[in-house]
Amino acid sequence: MSILRVLEFTKDLISKHLNQGDIAIDATCGNGNDTVFLAKLVGENGKVFGFDIQEEAIKNTLAVLSKEGLNNRVECLKVSHSIMDQYVKENVKVVMFNLGYLPGSDKQITTKGLSTIKAIEAALSILATKGLITMVVYQGHDDGEEAQIVEDYLRNLPQKEFSVLRYQFVNQVHYPPYLIAIEKKDNS
Ligand SMILES: C[S@@+](CC[C@H](N)C(=O)[O-])C[C@H]1O[C@@H](n2cnc3c(N)ncnc32)[C@H](O)[C@@H]1O
Repeated sequence: MSILRVLEFTKDLISKHLNQGDIAIDATCGNGNDTVFLAKLVGENGKVFGFDIQEEAIKNTLAVLSKEGLNNRVECLKVSHSIMDQYVKENVKVVMFNLGYLPGSDKQITTKGLSTIKAIEAALSILATKGLITMVVYQGHDDGEEAQIVEDYLRNLPQKEFSVLRYQFVNQVHYPPYLIAIEKKDNS
């Protein structure tokens, strides 16, 4: 077996946490690829909430969902993920982030450190026990500023309540993306 690439490892981790009937969030819909992935995993009795601030991303996501016949289990919201807890009240099993900008679109419209931290806090407040947050992080889009802010925040999450993992190749050129995963521990 080969070492899994970052996105493969992310999806493998998610598929081990998410069951049919669960609730999941795609915090950065973009072109809808991850929304489709989550929608398939939660099945017809589950639900996915998708967030993006760009009209184009919401349109693209709705189009791929429709092609796959998955619209009825997904609610797409043109709202910042930093206030996701105002729209989702249920216990969420997985929150998936893919940071950065929409490929092929305006690079200025990108995730930003401080609002990403607000989004992590919102996600933690609705995350189920044993729930998982994944963030694929790109350092290239802003010279690593967002990645640094996010890591400084995560380093201080209490170890008794959360496991925080980084999965990263260390010998690749050009700022390859890496994964940060946060799991809410079961302390019962
Ligand atoms: C790298 S793309 C996501 C790719 C996507 N997951 C896919 O499968 O195609 C990042 C997305 O985050 C969105 N975004 C930026 N800031 C955001 C925010 N505050 N709330 C929600 N989405 C945001 C961008 O508009 C962009 O579409």
